[in-house]
Amino acid sequence: MKDIDEIKNIVANSQHRELLSAALEIVENAGKILLGYFRTDGLTFSKKSTSSDIVTLADKETEKYVIERIREKFPSHGIVSEESSQINKEAEWKWIVDPLDGTTNFNNGLPVFNISIGIEYNGVPVVGVIYAPYLEEIFFAVKDEGAYFNGRKIHVSNTGALEDAVVATGLPYDKKENPDNNLEEVSIIAPEVRGLRRLGSAALDLAYVAAGFFDAYWELDLKHWDIAAGALLVKEAGGEIFSLRLNRNYSILAANASLSHKILGLLLTSHSRKSSNHI
Ligand code: IPD
Ligand code: CA
Ligand code: CA
Repeated sequence: MKDIDEIKNIVANSQHRELLSAALEIVENAGKILLGYFRTDGLTFSKKSTSSDIVTLADKETEKYVIERIREKFPSHGIVSEESSQINKEAEWKWIVDPLDGTTNFNNGLPVFNISIGIEYNGVPVVGVIYAPYLEEIFFAVKDEGAYFNGRKIHVSNTGALEDAVVATGLPYDKKENPDNNLEEVSIIAPEVRGLRRLGSAALDLAYVAAGFFDAYWELDLKHWDIAAGALLVKEAGGEIFSLRLNRNYSILAANASLSHKILGLLLTSHSRKSSNHI
């Protein structure tokens, strides 16, 4: 992991140092497992909800390691992880884990993938860690203590004009069956902004908003593990998160405060039945 001395110093001064250092150690080792499979012939995959939604051997191996380590270090904590059923449902502390975010990229040999861990206390996000091992990018945030990228404090961008904005989005896995598939929103936003990107990793999209690399990001039908760490990063970096739907899991817009209402206005013109909430 890069900039290890700066990171150690931040961790030592955090009121949640035990959780943060455990999460950092776990994602670092999980990253090594992922890299062991990346661009090798040993990777197998299977389909999940649709033919776009896949899981690989690497997702499963990484998840196994992450769950074992959490259970060993914090036996009373709960765990919600993408490929497994919940552990300790009633626990006050919960780890929300995406063992491989960006599986389609990973499976095709594209380097934009990460491990994402959010830790919540009674449903309130307290720690978020996102590690992209191939890119050597480590992002983390602690509630009320700020957000960091490779050991340096980060802040959302201050881009205020749509024409200057670089914005990310994604398409839901049920895009073929469900007409609420974001294509209309893409056609409305794309002409207005400098650049529209689809990286294929929700956690990194959010981390990049937190770091100011993206000015905004929206996506429909995400899951808790896609956003648990990234949403905390965005808020701790001074950004805003809005909910775009009440009936489609986590459908969110993340942006800096100068841009958020402009993009929200455009997104909401596309569907009269849509409603939004500041969350
Ligand atoms: C997916 C990625 C993708 C987003 C999907 C997510 P996964 O996570 O974050 O960018 O468009 O909605 O499910 O399946 O690779 O963990
Ligand atoms: Ca994911
Ligand atoms: Ca995943």
